[in-house]
Amino acid sequence: MCGIFAYTGKKQAGVTLLDGLTSLEYRGYDSAGIFLPERGGIRAVGAVGNLKKKIPTDFEGHSGIAHLRWATHGEPTEDNAHPHRDCTSDVWVVHNGIIENWKELKRDLESRGHVFLSETDTEVMAHLVEQELSDGKDFESAARAALGRIRGTYGMAIQSRAEPDVIVGARMGAPVVLGLGDGENFIASDPSPILKHTRTVLFLEDGEMAVIRPNSYKIFKLGGDTVERAAQEVDWSPEEAQKGGYEHFMLKEIMEGPEVIKNTLRGRLMFEEGMAKLGGLESVKDELAKIERIIIVGCGTAYYAGLVGEYMLEEHAGIPVEVELGSEFRYRKPVLNQKTMLLAISQSGETADTLEAIREGKRKGAITVGIVNTVGSTIARETDAGVYNHAGPEIGVASTKALVSQITALALLTLFLGRQRKMSDSDAEEIISQLSLLPEKVQKILDNKAAIEAMAAKYSDSRDFLYIGRKYNYPIAFEGALKLKEISYIHAEGCGAGEMKHGPLAMIDEKFPTMAIAPSDTVYEKLASNIQEIRARRGPVVAVATEGNDDILSYTKDVIYVPETIEMLQPILSVVPLQLFAYYLAHAKGFNVDRPRNLAKSVTVE
Ligand code: G6P
Repeated sequence: MCGIFAYTGKKQAGVTLLDGLTSLEYRGYDSAGIFLPERGGIRAVGAVGNLKKKIPTDFEGHSGIAHLRWATHGEPTEDNAHPHRDCTSDVWVVHNGIIENWKELKRDLESRGHVFLSETDTEVMAHLVEQELSDGKDFESAARAALGRIRGTYGMAIQSRAEPDVIVGARMGAPVVLGLGDGENFIASDPSPILKHTRTVLFLEDGEMAVIRPNSYKIFKLGGDTVERAAQEVDWSPEEAQKGGYEHFMLKEIMEGPEVIKNTLRGRLMFEEGMAKLGGLESVKDELAKIERIIIVGCGTAYYAGLVGEYMLEEHAGIPVEVELGSEFRYRKPVLNQKTMLLAISQSGETADTLEAIREGKRKGAITVGIVNTVGSTIARETDAGVYNHAGPEIGVASTKALVSQITALALLTLFLGRQRKMSDSDAEEIISQLSLLPEKVQKILDNKAAIEAMAAKYSDSRDFLYIGRKYNYPIAFEGALKLKEISYIHAEGCGAGEMKHGPLAMIDEKFPTMAIAPSDTVYEKLASNIQEIRARRGPVVAVATEGNDDILSYTKDVIYVPETIEMLQPILSVVPLQLFAYYLAHAKGFNVDRPRNLAKSVTVE
């Protein structure tokens, strides 16, 4: 999730663009860059502050494009920072998304003599426009023709030195909004950098391009037809705009679930071969084929993702797995060798305990691998190999979309390691097809959020909550409880449903509700009897159950239905309603959901 911003008008463009990038910083902070036609491209690794130092404040230019990067293809280096340019340094592009056919386009362009300067997919676009310009087209037609050749997702802005007042924007799967001012116009990923200048905006739809000049704008279908759409006035504050109109980042991030799964899977499912393509593991793939044991380390939510991974990897890849809290692992004397893979799961890639566990594993000769969201973070750099989540920055302290992505990545890893071993074609085929169906299934749950909100309101006075689950949903019981306690400060406990009789059942009475994660899987019957035991003690029960299961209604009327998938992927569908439940409950209690008391997003100290 990168951010783009473009300006053409009468203000000083450098200052306007830098200021806008600061409002977009929540979208990425790996690198920042700007193109000013009179001056050229200026780029810097890290946050906007680093770029600011490189741009003189007295510089008089009146148009330009700017970008904040959250790295996907290529490391967060200056060479890979946007804007990207063509061979002549006349055409510059900023892009949020992925051009899927970039490799073939790059080969074609190189054969025509184009020279590339970065490892990014985006640079292809600048050279495509250059190619079209050299065929005699004007800038607008050249940009349209170039857009017609790329496949993938993009929110984009393109500028050429030949017509410095003109900026072309385009949208396919990544948001683009125009800001329409008095003698000035803007293009951005969301309205937050625009609102200071104008409240009149116009959202592009997929397959549309816009051409802005200081005193005019036009919108077209990529095919060429003109689009007539009325602009709208927005009354959002810049902060509301960053949250995409949602009240909190946490809700926005939960709502991003389908997109996040698509981004984690993008380009990685090989339907024909029944395999996962994980470029980050290529360098160690022969060693991975020989490992005899996996130890997963993580903290908080990442640890619970690891527990789901244990079930997946043992069942489908046939490799023994242990899961450890980073904080425990580093103080034990773990027995590791070259046939052990030590897998760190971390959204930030900076959690101190997880990092130290990896360092300890390395000292002992294990192969270290990361499932990390933040490209170029310490864990990503220090592990031997890894799988990036591509989930985009997570701002809410309570982790939500990162977990969904971590479990998705673990499924890809299971496929990868399983196929190196005995996983059958049909098993692989089923995992792949079910993975590709997940985004729409998660969307279905999200569409039902009003019902979950009502359920949360009903239980908002509870002082305690128990979460129970079995097998693949055993870790989800703990994660559900963690979400509730961290943002609503309600005492919540996760429990393996089979353990109820060994203690927790003693707490149950009519004031102590239970969240039962009860999809129609191989342990449903067992879980149903656990629910019955709770009901016999007059404990209220909310159940997460599979669509079409009427049997559950004989135990409780408070049911949240979720779609069905294969057992190993069910945790993704079970956890989303629990995230929403915790969110709405904390919200009903009036707490600051994005910044829970006493907690930090990234724990970089012990
Ligand atoms: C903190 C966050 C949690 C997160 C955990 C691990 O406690 O509040 O949401 O799960 O750290 O963070 P990591 O970045 O390593 O996934």
